[in-house]
Amino acid sequence: MLPANIPAYFKKRREILGKKEPQAAFFFPSNRELIRNDDVHYDFRQDSNLHYLTGFPEPESFLALLPTSEAGKTHRSILFVRKKNPEREIWDGERYGVEGALSTFGMDATYPIEELDARLPELMKGVEKVYYRVNFDESMDRRIFEVLERYRRSQGRSGRGVIPVVDPREQVGEMRLFKAPEEIEFLRKAGQISARAHVEAMKRTKPGMNELEIEALIDYEMRSKGCQRLGYGSIVAGGKNATCLHYRSNNETLNDGDLLLIDAGGEHQYYTADITRTFPVGRKFTDLQAKFYDVVLKAEKDCIALVKPGIAYTTIHQTACEILTEGLLSLGLLKGNAKELIQSNAFRRFYPHGTGHYLGMDVHDCGLYMLNGESRKIEAGMCFTIEPGLYVQPGDMEAPAEFRGLGVRIEDDILVTATGCEVLTKDVPKERAEIEALKS
Ligand code: GLY
Ligand code: MN
Ligand code: MN
Repeated sequence: MLPANIPAYFKKRREILGKKEPQAAFFFPSNRELIRNDDVHYDFRQDSNLHYLTGFPEPESFLALLPTSEAGKTHRSILFVRKKNPEREIWDGERYGVEGALSTFGMDATYPIEELDARLPELMKGVEKVYYRVNFDESMDRRIFEVLERYRRSQGRSGRGVIPVVDPREQVGEMRLFKAPEEIEFLRKAGQISARAHVEAMKRTKPGMNELEIEALIDYEMRSKGCQRLGYGSIVAGGKNATCLHYRSNNETLNDGDLLLIDAGGEHQYYTADITRTFPVGRKFTDLQAKFYDVVLKAEKDCIALVKPGIAYTTIHQTACEILTEGLLSLGLLKGNAKELIQSNAFRRFYPHGTGHYLGMDVHDCGLYMLNGESRKIEAGMCFTIEPGLYVQPGDMEAPAEFRGLGVRIEDDILVTATGCEVLTKDVPKERAEIEALKS
């Protein structure tokens, strides 16, 4: 059975977006269904912006917000959807159809998706600008530019060109950057479920298991406890595999004496967690692993302690780079003067990524990082990860042999509050003693 009503916040978001630019039209196509091979599709997930503005879950759909002079609103919400099709629904499942979409999703009008190209030009009367993301889907681009050309011609001999087309990601991105209470609830839940899955993985990892078994365990724990899917492909990287930042093959045996790095996050109601923990495959960290781990842990904890409204976002990365550089000096992996090493980015040999990113419906979520050429200041309602790490490549012959192949990252999800922050993923331990206690 398809859900029969939809929360009011979707409509409110369309109203907020419309008020930003009453004379503009906003177009949001759905994601496309991608074919894997004959009769098999990749799992479909709705485009995050279309979900954010409608909650409509089906492919072959298209939201148009069109300016109106009707009292009490700036735009009419029009959704183009697949028609009901009893034959196809036997194979692919129930569809809302044109009437179902109208009554369930609070639209002003709904039409069959086949009518998009014919109807849009006549619905666009008075539109002076269109927000539409170009260069994402070529075939949709062709359709939209044809629509815009037909609209231009319908204006008669005006001498005007095609109306400006502007990417909507900035407008919607700035809305999505600040999480509303319902979004915070979903992020909190995603964080809690994902944290429990990481705890299970810590407890159940044993030497001799394969990385794939742990990936499957995490998948099961997340999806059976309230996540509809994962927010990205899990990284389950034993030993030296942890030094490959986007390791995805997850198919090697886990060895006693090695560390295991897991980067995995479940998605709850379209909002994802993004957690990394690194822990021993066996029972205990070796002394060397412990010293290396503690450098990353200090960087992570000190960065989290900084978070409160008003600090520049880049301060977090700068702080991580400073602490990691001092740690690399104390470990003997770098030599020289700390200040000079930071200035010359020497740490990048062992720390080649940033210290985090915005988090929300997308794991690398939208929103501007810079405003007027300067780092944006952190504000309440923003959510981002903090994820320092250190990696010594196995082939780094300049590094002492005992460090080669070590990779540690620790990643938590942070919600900025009025006075500081809430760590949404705090339920998964990161202190060495707590991790070892779980494994004893
Ligand atoms: N899991 C992707 C990231 O940490 O950015
Ligand atoms: Mn991340
Ligand atoms: Mn991650």
